[in-house]
Amino acid sequence: MPTPTVRPRRLRRTAAIRDLVAQTHLRVDDLVAPLFVREGIDEPQPIESLPGVMQHTATSLRSEVAALAELGVRSVVLFGVPASKDPTGSGAFDPDGIVQIALRDLRSDLGDDIVVMADLCVDEYTDHGHCGIVGADGDVDNDATLELYARAALAQAAAGAQVVAPSGMMDGQVAVIRDALDTAGFTDVAIMAYAAKFASALYGPFRDAVDVSITGGGDRKGYQQDWRNSREAQLEIDLDVAEGADIVMVKPALAYLDVIADASARLDVPMAAYHVSGEYAMIHAAAERGWIDGDAVALEHLTAIKRAGADIVLTYFTRWFAESVANGSVAS
Ligand code: PBG
Repeated sequence: MPTPTVRPRRLRRTAAIRDLVAQTHLRVDDLVAPLFVREGIDEPQPIESLPGVMQHTATSLRSEVAALAELGVRSVVLFGVPASKDPTGSGAFDPDGIVQIALRDLRSDLGDDIVVMADLCVDEYTDHGHCGIVGADGDVDNDATLELYARAALAQAAAGAQVVAPSGMMDGQVAVIRDALDTAGFTDVAIMAYAAKFASALYGPFRDAVDVSITGGGDRKGYQQDWRNSREAQLEIDLDVAEGADIVMVKPALAYLDVIADASARLDVPMAAYHVSGEYAMIHAAAERGWIDGDAVALEHLTAIKRAGADIVLTYFTRWFAESVANGSVAS
């Protein structure tokens, strides 16, 4: 065998040379912190299956976001847990619903220093746990649900959301929301669409975080996507772009890197990916047993999501990553 002349190991010899040739860099300003705010509690509540993540009070949310902003985090996305739920999820569009209160607080505290996004769905607010109005046949009624989403978008925009993030996977939701926002004069409010959102088993800890269980042991397979399909994911993404989405999201992230890569090679809009609750919880659970180095795996996973083509990553690791950059334990 002749000695090979192309020797990739030359560029792996030292940390400095590896940093020099590294193609992908994870940065604090790529990340969005998902945050939970719960109505009617006096103290923040830990979420057992999401170590380090809290259900915040309106007050503790303000200090958490101030601390994140201080650490250089540029964006948060809010989820509300209402004190009471009903069939239409009216807390999602009540001007005094918990997320609307939180939006007003955060905008008055921080102005434009941080991008405040709101998840736009009704499942946290409905007593049956579905993402829309359940019809007489037990199915979620697409077009009746769109009206609720339009109302929620207006309530969130009026309360100061700079970005609304529809996550219900109803057909036509982006067009209806865009139209409602524009008609009411909220032309500057952007839409980050959960475009390819799969009916994943990885949302389990999130449902603990928002106290959601679907009545009768139902699931979301009638509206969220079948994870066997990749072409359909591109169709969903194209529809959302055509309907006016400013940013499109793939969710979950790691099991769908092919979908992220295909879309980011084709599209001209920013791409987001949601590293979801189950992805976070798995890392914590294995690290707790000493089976993996949790910090190293977190960094590897989040960087892989960027390498696949995501510009923005929603992750429960946002605070940890920002702190690690600030104290020099990871390079940004
Ligand atoms: C729906 C919504 C869900 C998540 C974000 N928005 C749950 C669902 O579709 O059941 C999941 C996020 C996560 O698992 O971290 N409002």
